[in-house]
Amino acid sequence: MPGTVFFSVTMSLDGFIAHRDGIDEAGVRRWTSQWMELQGWIFPQRYLRERLRLGEGGEEGRDNEIVRETFERIGASVMGRRMFDLGEPAWPDEAPFHTSVFVVTHETRDPWERPGGTTFHFVDDAEVAIDRARDAAGDRDVRIAGGGATILKYLNLGLVDEFTIALSPVLLGAGIRLFEGVDASRVAIEPIRAEPSSAVTHLTYAVRAR
Ligand SMILES: NC(=O)c1ccc[n+]([C@@H]2O[C@H](COP(=O)([O-])OP(=O)(O)OC[C@H]3O[C@@H](n4cnc5c(N)ncnc54)[C@H](OP(=O)(O)O)[C@@H]3O)[C@@H](O)[C@H]2O)c1
Repeated sequence: MPGTVFFSVTMSLDGFIAHRDGIDEAGVRRWTSQWMELQGWIFPQRYLRERLRLGEGGEEGRDNEIVRETFERIGASVMGRRMFDLGEPAWPDEAPFHTSVFVVTHETRDPWERPGGTTFHFVDDAEVAIDRARDAAGDRDVRIAGGGATILKYLNLGLVDEFTIALSPVLLGAGIRLFEGVDASRVAIEPIRAEPSSAVTHLTYAVRAR
């Protein structure tokens, strides 16, 4: 049975998940400190720290379990080229996916195999990328890892089944809004669950065609 296609991101209370391209150096510095506030809940989690080789220890409460559940359901991922470009120099050698990752890009590049089971495949068609990710995932789920443009593309194609937002109590004021450009005449959502932790609120929705 095919798995679920989902995304899971952290969003500021005013709806942003990333900065826009082309901001100046001061803007990048400002964004980086805001990014740490936005994502401040996730980096102390023990499971993520182990996965990203950030060091031993960490928090072990419900947020940690949610991070674990999110990663353990993934059989393959799809991501946009800009997210890949940011991760490529930052991920440890043993990239933290341990599955196939399909990078949507108009650039041609050979697959990039990492120790530990991650192979990045570069695909120039969003629908082909998701078909290949579904095949690779088998009966596990496909995560659309991000970023904003890629998530929006798949939402508007009707290819997302479910998503979770970690709503972070931070105001960013500018950047890439998660739902800017969503085709609301075609995409409807139904709440599945809301789970507050001390740091963020985890909101899960099913996606339906209107
Ligand atoms: N808040 C969170 O939890 C979270 C999670 C993940 C990522 N992010 C952030 O999201 C940001 C990146 O998002 P983004 O919106 O700027 O970019 P993105 O979605 O990562 O990448 C966009 C790029 O993907 C390629 N692409 C997208 N759709 C395609 C298609 N249909 N066919 C072929 N290629 C396609 C294009 O690359 P080419 O130009 O090569 O063709 C496009 O320029 C980063 O700042 C990252 O940190 C945030």
